[in-house]
Amino acid sequence: MKIGIIGAGNIGSALAGYFHKLQHTVLIANSRGPETLSKVAQETGATPVNISGVAKGVDLLVIAIPMKNVPSLPNDLLANLPVASPIIDTGNYYPLRDGHITEMDKGMVESEWTSHILGRPVIKAFNNIVADSLLHKGLPKGSKNRIALPVSGDDVRAKQLVISLLDQMGFDAMDAGPLSESWHYQPGTPAYCPDPTIRQLPSLLKRANRDKAPASRDQAAKMMAKLPADFPPQELVRVARLSAGLDILKPRSWIALLRLVFTVLWPF
Ligand SMILES: NC(=O)c1ccc[n+]([C@@H]2O[C@H](COP(=O)([O-])OP(=O)(O)OC[C@H]3O[C@@H](n4cnc5c(N)ncnc54)[C@H](OP(=O)(O)O)[C@@H]3O)[C@@H](O)[C@H]2O)c1
Repeated sequence: MKIGIIGAGNIGSALAGYFHKLQHTVLIANSRGPETLSKVAQETGATPVNISGVAKGVDLLVIAIPMKNVPSLPNDLLANLPVASPIIDTGNYYPLRDGHITEMDKGMVESEWTSHILGRPVIKAFNNIVADSLLHKGLPKGSKNRIALPVSGDDVRAKQLVISLLDQMGFDAMDAGPLSESWHYQPGTPAYCPDPTIRQLPSLLKRANRDKAPASRDQAAKMMAKLPADFPPQELVRVARLSAGLDILKPRSWIALLRLVFTVLWPF
């Protein structure tokens, strides 16, 4: 396939590397121009292009930018994107980072908001795995600890394409229903970033509480803002697993939680 990726940060570049390794042709763009992406190109094998060309004629488009910037994407961005080409939305809404967006503050499903802004259907995927896990924790099919990720959307064919891509990348995937149900793995829910297996994922999705998720999200974001940039991402995953009720008998998880709390509170 020819795949376009908008955003060349943690998630955009991780996906670019995977897709290139899987022999796809990968175009990647940010807002500052291809000349700023030579390191990303070297590391991932993707071809940097202008934002105006990233969706042109591609078979799949990925949006991997902060949600607050979606409305400022060029108006004609999708003019030459074939109607049959799926768009993957990796975005998460964090008011602390994105500022307040009224519709989502009122409870609009995040990817439905993105779809509304773009004027095209989207598939929600890759939003609930930290970039470090995405980059390093892919495993062959059938492996005991293979991570499972939910995929939502209203177009079954598009969902199947993303599910099959995930499998090739080293992840199990679960069809999590229509886009309207994708709030089950937005920030602040149990399925947000705990690297679950395919056995664990369904019950995590089921336990999501739509009313309580925004408060949990904001509390987590405040804590994250106090962490140094080099705080180990896998410690965060351990804490996410613990809060989701996984690994409660593993001492390593409680050590990760203590480490997080001490780092946030230090100096007392
Ligand atoms: N980090 C994670 O572990 C993770 C995991 C899952 C999902 N997500 C979600 O995925 C999205 C991207 O996260 P990230 O961590 O990859 O962000 P990031 O590292 O900050 O990278 C964002 C990228 O988007 C580009 N960008 C920003 N505004 C743009 C615009 N208007 N047009 C084109 N490119 C633009 C930035 O480049 P320039 O600013 O140079 O243009 C940068 O390359 C977010 O919604 C995030 O919540 C993140």
